[in-house]
Amino acid sequence: MTASQPHGGTLINRFNPDYKYDGISKSIELDPMALSDLELIAIGGYSPLQGFLGKEDYESVVHTMKLADGTVWSIPVTLPVEEKVAETLQAGEDVKLTKNGVVYGVLHFEEAYKPNKEVEAEKVYRTTEAAHPGVKKMLERPDVYVAGKITLVRREEKKFAGYHLDPKDTRAKFEELGWEKVVGFQTRNPVHRAHEYIQKTALEIVDGLFLNPLVGETKSDDIPADIRMESYEVLLKNYYPKDRVFLAVFPAAMRYAGPREAIFHAMVRKNYGCTHFIVGRDHAGVGDYYGTYDAQLIFRNFTSEELGITPLFFEHSFYCKKCEGMASTKTCPHGKEDRMILSGTKVREMLRNGEVPPSTFSRREVVEVLIKGMKQQTVQS
Ligand code: ADX
Repeated sequence: MTASQPHGGTLINRFNPDYKYDGISKSIELDPMALSDLELIAIGGYSPLQGFLGKEDYESVVHTMKLADGTVWSIPVTLPVEEKVAETLQAGEDVKLTKNGVVYGVLHFEEAYKPNKEVEAEKVYRTTEAAHPGVKKMLERPDVYVAGKITLVRREEKKFAGYHLDPKDTRAKFEELGWEKVVGFQTRNPVHRAHEYIQKTALEIVDGLFLNPLVGETKSDDIPADIRMESYEVLLKNYYPKDRVFLAVFPAAMRYAGPREAIFHAMVRKNYGCTHFIVGRDHAGVGDYYGTYDAQLIFRNFTSEELGITPLFFEHSFYCKKCEGMASTKTCPHGKEDRMILSGTKVREMLRNGEVPPSTFSRREVVEVLIKGMKQQTVQS
């Protein structure tokens, strides 16, 4: 047994490949975000959710960051459809959930409702600006949310062979490894030196690190998941002890909801079996929408019992030339001029401009993979 309990107490399993859907006439075509949400609900990644949020839970999540029963939940997981589609549905009926015509699941339809998207944007994203990629996405999706429990009937083809593990599998793995304390790490970037520093600092006080990069939908200027996966492999091979790190993908879409998403990311990693979760500077942030430590401060809204996972907060980390190593504002007495300020955004910028990030930014092996990957991308596009 890992020391962490699933969020809400039970790991949800709503995958049933034998579920009969041949007789169902109505269907809803999913976008990539909805498809990944469907799968994550079914495999228990989003426990205790068993489906797309109904109106009561939705309102409660938007306004209080809790489900109607009081369980912490910070991101509305919803299924938006066109009004004309919603109008045809009757409570209690089954509806096929398809992607490119292929049936992946069934919605046991309960209700449809119209959200106030401006309120959702303001509460969840802390901005109503359509320039925010999460808000933009929400506004672009259709205007009626349909709700009900789901059944997953088919798994998506796995892109990253060997790295797709469901929460029940990672839990079993951590147990097999004898890890009682497991720290989860979310990233949508190649791991750079600051990431490595905070991961390894956390590793000093726990048994294992669960490197769990998000590989669902991201904004177009984020580095594609396949290039990132290769960069994680070379990094782990060269710089991490094999028996203390476990790499598996997190198939969700990125929301860029900063503080709210940090809570969401923590709850989901709890379901994957983590006891601890790393939250550094501007977690899941984008542009200047959130304060550097907002994603840490938001945890104060909840008791440790409500969370059931221990967040590990890290200050902005960097390479200091005078310290001759990685440090943070907590440990380094030197000035700005001695610090190499690192960020995924900065590394992306350098790569795009054909510059090679120095080893104080990113490990050489990682940089090589990124340069190769970016070149191939340019050739393909
Ligand atoms: S994201 O999903 O949170 O957007 P990102 O790759 O940018 O992914 O960051 C992964 C984790 O590392 C987050 O917890 C973030 O706060 C933390 N982080 C990133 N850069 C730094 C840094 N320079 N110092 C401290 N924490 C950092």
